Amino acid sequence: MTDWNRVRRDFPALAPVSGRPAPVYLDSACMSLVPRTVLEAIEAYYSEYPGCAGRSLHRFAEEVGHRYEGAREAFARFLGAPSASGIVFLRNATEAINLVARGLNWEPGDRVLVSDQEHNSNLVIWQRLADERGIRLAHLRLPADGSFDFDALDAELDRGVRLVSFFHTSNLDGRSLPIREIAEHAHAKGAELLVDGCQAAPHQRVDLATLGADYYALSLHKMLGPSGTGLLAGSPERLAQLAPLVVGGETVEWTSLTGHQLRPPPHRFEAGLQNYAGVLGAAAGLRYLERIGLEDVEAHDAAINVRATRALMDESRVHLLGPTDPAHRASIYSFTLDGVDPNDAALFLDEGYGVMVRSGMHCVHSWYRERSLPGSIRASFYLYTSPRDVDTFVAGVRELLGRIPASPSVRASSPVPPPPRRPTRRAAR
Ligand SMILES: Cc1ncc(COP(=O)(O)O)c(C=O)c1O
Repeated sequence: MTDWNRVRRDFPALAPVSGRPAPVYLDSACMSLVPRTVLEAIEAYYSEYPGCAGRSLHRFAEEVGHRYEGAREAFARFLGAPSASGIVFLRNATEAINLVARGLNWEPGDRVLVSDQEHNSNLVIWQRLADERGIRLAHLRLPADGSFDFDALDAELDRGVRLVSFFHTSNLDGRSLPIREIAEHAHAKGAELLVDGCQAAPHQRVDLATLGADYYALSLHKMLGPSGTGLLAGSPERLAQLAPLVVGGETVEWTSLTGHQLRPPPHRFEAGLQNYAGVLGAAAGLRYLERIGLEDVEAHDAAINVRATRALMDESRVHLLGPTDPAHRASIYSFTLDGVDPNDAALFLDEGYGVMVRSGMHCVHSWYRERSLPGSIRASFYLYTSPRDVDTFVAGVRELLGRIPASPSVRASSPVPPPPRRPTRRAAR
């Protein structure tokens, strides 16, 4: 049994500062906090073996090279990837998706299918490629209740799709897509499948061997790693068909004045000196996560979300996004409030209650614009979220509702009476 109070103590950012209550961090879907072991791993790199891997032969370089490749193996095992050569370390999931998108040899007219609820990281690049290389972008509309329409998928696939690119778990409302079945349908019709696993891999067991995705992108800074770390997973054979996004040092076997030979994956995609401190920190975060176990983390997220959902389910001015069952959106509670702008609500919760949530369109502008919504408020949970955090959040939402006149016809438009000492801040995107 995991001692969740002890877990919290491993996260320095959650410590109370000079007599103020501990911060209530409910923005893990944007970036998770890091346990102390991650900070220690970063410090160990800079103080004990601050070398560059794969170049020099001295002991610092040997040590960091050994640890960096060890991290690759650890992530391959964690994801059930066919081999460590199928793990490419990158800056973030956006870069991973861009690598696949820019790396495939598109023919004009090739179709890419995305859902209507993708993060901009899995949308903008396809729109660019439509302009630049003549690909055609199709959208699959997802039912509002969190279900998935396989007939609609098959109808799209029948029109000819080269690549399906879907999220695994949505950052907007926490719903997950049935990726294994989607992979079967896509492959049966000759399409490849790229999965944006940003919000899934930190919270549920992902086994690429059973999922059947051809490419899987994720951010390590959403699963206890340092900021600016991510990866792309795929079989070395699939990765070998991609052209690198960036080339130069480390990506080649040899060069002459007139040519070069690229190294096999993954090194051909990791150009220049890498973020060794970040990757070693992320590997320490992974060890921490594995010690607790994804099954426990998933159950913890769900229990936290049940508490939030139950507490606010009778509030008629709270409108939940996504599946009603919290178990089906375990790490995310996303909602709108009648009469309250989401950004005002977020500022109110932070200033008045120390509760940090995300507000706005969560980088899924397309979805909100289609519905003429100004955004939503999103509380996202992780292994360090406590029942008390949820209670503070709920108390803040209730106070907010108490301060505005009930007006069911007004959605997200009236300004909220400001909390004390409310600063001016930039509106969230
Ligand atoms: C579903 C989803 N996809 C992509 C991204 C982008 O991730 P990154 O910042 O690692 O590029 C995010 C970040 O919030 C996300 O939630």
